[in-house]
Amino acid sequence: MAILKIARMGHPILGMKSIPVADPQAPEIGYFVEDMIDTLADAGGVGLAAPQVHVPIRLVIFKVPAARAAAERYRDAGLDEDSEEIPLTVLINPVIEAIGNETHAAYEGCLSIPEMMGEVHRPVHIRYSGLGLDGEPIEREAKGFHARVVQHECDHLDGILYPQRISDMRTFGYNEELKKSIVANDDDNEEAT
Ligand code: NI
Repeated sequence: MAILKIARMGHPILGMKSIPVADPQAPEIGYFVEDMIDTLADAGGVGLAAPQVHVPIRLVIFKVPAARAAAERYRDAGLDEDSEEIPLTVLINPVIEAIGNETHAAYEGCLSIPEMMGEVHRPVHIRYSGLGLDGEPIEREAKGFHARVVQHECDHLDGILYPQRISDMRTFGYNEELKKSIVANDDDNEEAT
């Protein structure tokens, strides 16, 4: 058990394409995931990708906390399927496919870009699959925040950070500044991932 150092934007590992995990059940993968879980808990985010802790393999962890799942704006958008809490999930060698072409804009943060946020458009509805730590297949559909977190984390595996997906760079800035003007009427600002 250990808290790992999180790479920050500018470190070359965050721009690399990560390699598939050959054996999800290998003991070293299990130990590494324990450290990732400790690191995520310490940092207070909702998701973490292996390359963010300097290990360029296709593995992410994430969760959808109950408070986030109930965010009003998602309910208002009719995304009530997303109102369930998603427990901490370990997803290995993930594959994502958009369902339909509806997109939604929301603010995202990232543990590799501390104190900042920006608005990113992403598909609302996705299907994702991969393997769990037990080597068993995981296949889920996701909407709203759940779908956003999975897409954000999996982007890390292809060396993509959310600022590369911001269409209006005026929405990219320091949390402290942006929240002054946004938070009053927008409650779906993302937690750091
Ligand atoms: Ni991130």
